[in-house]
Amino acid sequence: GEVRSIRASLLEWYDINRRDLPWRRGGDGGEEGEDKGAYGVWVSEVMLQQTRVQTVIEYYNRWMLKWPSLHHLASSSLEEVNEMWAGLGYYRRARFLLEGAKMIVTGGEGFPRTVAQLLKVPGIGEYTAGAIASIAFKEVVPAVDGNVIRVLARLKAISGNPKDSVTMKKFWRLAGQLVDNSRPGDFNQSLMELGATVCTPLNPACSSCPISSKCQARSISEKDTSVAVTDY
Ligand code: ADE
Repeated sequence: GEVRSIRASLLEWYDINRRDLPWRRGGDGGEEGEDKGAYGVWVSEVMLQQTRVQTVIEYYNRWMLKWPSLHHLASSSLEEVNEMWAGLGYYRRARFLLEGAKMIVTGGEGFPRTVAQLLKVPGIGEYTAGAIASIAFKEVVPAVDGNVIRVLARLKAISGNPKDSVTMKKFWRLAGQLVDNSRPGDFNQSLMELGATVCTPLNPACSSCPISSKCQARSISEKDTSVAVTDY
């Protein structure tokens, strides 16, 4: 069916085009098991919220040298964390990472592994919870950020204001229907990466898109050039 074909095309594209980013190398958790991977995914996702990938790489590498595990971070101070964050902006994000790390370590139950558990951590919202749970723990859940909204809006020609919660529910429901059962983290990242590199806000590279044949915005705009594919 259509959904299976979209999944397969996105994963195949991602396998060839995924960027080699430091937080995607994790995996060998050492004595902390999968927690180390989850910690790295968490730090990277928070940094990526308002900052470009190229900038984040440097900050992420420095952060991991200073605090290689959740326990290292939990025993640091707000001053140190703010100093490390200098230049990234939105310092609340750094404070939440520190508070969250302290909370998780104090809780004594290891890194939260599901969206429901992750949402209890200060500063972790639906997107970050979905990203960590799917990427680090293979929970079959969606993760919808701005790039994913744009891809899905075009794919299904969904209109509406993403600031409106009814519209956002549509995107989360659709993403939840699409997410691949065996590779949820790769699937979610394929949508993010497609939005960042191919399905861009202006001049999307539709000829390089693995799902262009399924794309409703594209089929509309081919028939009627007055409909822009750049509306999202
Ligand atoms: N933007 C935010 N998180 C990302 C991820 N894990 N992969 C690609 N782009 C992202």
